Amino acid sequence: MALERTFSIIKPDATRRNLTGKVNTLLEAGGLRIVAQKRIHMSRAQAEAFYGVHKERPFFKSLCDFMTSGPVVVQVLEGENAIARNREIMGATNPANAAEGTIRKTLAESIEANSVHGSDSAENAAIEIAYFFAGTELVG
Ligand code: CMP
Repeated sequence: MALERTFSIIKPDATRRNLTGKVNTLLEAGGLRIVAQKRIHMSRAQAEAFYGVHKERPFFKSLCDFMTSGPVVVQVLEGENAIARNREIMGATNPANAAEGTIRKTLAESIEANSVHGSDSAENAAIEIAYFFAGTELVG
């Protein structure tokens, strides 16, 4: 087991419904510690760069519209195997396929408005954390 950090976003569908606390309760109950967190309104440029890997996908424009439609909460989560653990806590991308008790099964509205994002690898976690946080903002 390894102590890891991963990057998380509470998306606009969740902040709009005032679910930040509910998401954080599920993250903490799942064994993760929130070591950095801030509420921001992503710019178009930030959303397009953050999701650049998806720029050829048919949902890219709609995804960037959605991610800039309201505030998000960007977070750094710490814990044993935090990257895989967070993906278990979130559940499948499409809430219709997510396991019972996961954030997406419990709270998400659709495959796009799926309430949370979590890094998919250690390499991407490091890139995504550095995209939104300075090292001095991470307080373990
Ligand atoms: P996320 O884990 O943040 O990564 C990419 C996002 O694109 C995904 O969550 C969804 O919000 C959004 N998305 C919209 N449509 C799709 C799709 N068909 N497949 C995957 N992701 C999608």
